[in-house]
Amino acid sequence: MIQDPPSLTKAAPTVYGVEIGMKILVVGSGGREHALCWAIAASPLCDKLYCAPGNAGIAAETECVPIAAGDIDAIVDFCRKQAIEFVVVGPEAPLVAGLVDRLEGAGIMAFGPTQAAAALEGSKGFMKDLCAKHNIPTARYHRFRDAEKAKAHVRVHGAPIVVKADGLAAGKGVTVARSVAEACAAIDSCLTERRFGAAGEEVLLEEVLTGEECSFHCLVDGEFALPLATAQDHKAVLDGERGPNTGGMGAYSPAGIMTPELERRVMDEIISPTVAAMARDGMPFRGVLYAGLMITDSGPKLLEYNVRFGDPECQVLLMRLMSDLLPALLAAHDGVLKTFYLRWFPETALCVVMAAKGYPGESVKGSEIKGLDRAGAVDGVTIFHAGTKREGEKLLAEGGRVLGVTALGDNVAEAQARAYRAVDLVDWPQGFCRRDIGWRAVARGGE
Ligand code: AMP
Ligand code: GLY
Repeated sequence: MIQDPPSLTKAAPTVYGVEIGMKILVVGSGGREHALCWAIAASPLCDKLYCAPGNAGIAAETECVPIAAGDIDAIVDFCRKQAIEFVVVGPEAPLVAGLVDRLEGAGIMAFGPTQAAAALEGSKGFMKDLCAKHNIPTARYHRFRDAEKAKAHVRVHGAPIVVKADGLAAGKGVTVARSVAEACAAIDSCLTERRFGAAGEEVLLEEVLTGEECSFHCLVDGEFALPLATAQDHKAVLDGERGPNTGGMGAYSPAGIMTPELERRVMDEIISPTVAAMARDGMPFRGVLYAGLMITDSGPKLLEYNVRFGDPECQVLLMRLMSDLLPALLAAHDGVLKTFYLRWFPETALCVVMAAKGYPGESVKGSEIKGLDRAGAVDGVTIFHAGTKREGEKLLAEGGRVLGVTALGDNVAEAQARAYRAVDLVDWPQGFCRRDIGWRAVARGGE
């Protein structure tokens, strides 16, 4: 008799004797995917959870398989062999490369947009044209493929001006240029020197919007959008929003700037018209739609769309989610979100990202991290791993963003104090973090 592989031997959860447990795969390896695994593993609907490729923190709780998030053939193959029933895709690159289309084509349910719908993040030109067509408030823009024409536009319109690569550039494709020279250098780097390869075949030049930024996430089922809790991240690498932009050095939820009235405007003026337009154009959007917003004096404006959870916004959102995440993801997949209601803990969640020194540039690799047991034992604290790996007994930093020290508190000051108490117990001299995550909420008097 052929024995089941060990991964399939755990008894599946049952209701009245009927098996309800699902075999699930999460794709990705960051803090966002650790939080997704943490939430999905807690669901009574989850029988067996895998993560590809995961990280050391995920591996402590979930079975990790050494398949890169971009290796679509290997992921589909693994899902077929292990009879995976539902795949949750974390990062944008495999979505833009068509992972969900391939999985669904193979009869495997997958959470996330199709390749066509993922163009909302994969092509800023596509996103801006959609906004222009449907009067969705966003910065004025022009698209260029020719460097000389783009630079001529900058010389006429002057600085400051925003220069963006059209495609995915791992958070490095945007320059808010303070001078004409800086804008021209960014244009050359993209169109002439091809710094971003094919992702930089086109640039967008945008008017600079001023105000406060906010992250607004919705679950979308093709027609209906269900807003999640509000969050705000900190993109700049240094305290006081100084230094180059990163993927995110910290986040907190709720974000007090997003009042119910503003939330209604964002839904009516930005999210709903986008979801309707995508459906009408034959590319219904399913998955997480994350709008990066600028709250300007004249109201909310769309900076960018992301087609997945933000990282580290996901960590703070899921810490606050009281409801089971998995049925919500399935409802978005199945087109039945309208019947859904999500409950949230009223507490504030705050995440401090610890990165390896040098990030967002070339960062130190292979340094040892100690003290996580003590840090993780601080009241209300959960530590999500991003760039970590195990080598024997040692926990090593792989570089980039490494840990997301996340805390719940009755208000932002308490969540912040707990997160930094835990950060201070992490023994990792080669790491650093910002010391002011949540400062806007603290300045507003606590949220
Ligand atoms: P994006 O990837 O398009 O969100 O851009 C990354 C960051 O660049 C945003 O979070 C903003 O801080 C900044 N940014 C992008 N577009 C604009 C704009 N039109 N005006 C001002 N800042 C912008
Ligand atoms: N924290 C920003 C992002 O995930 O794009």
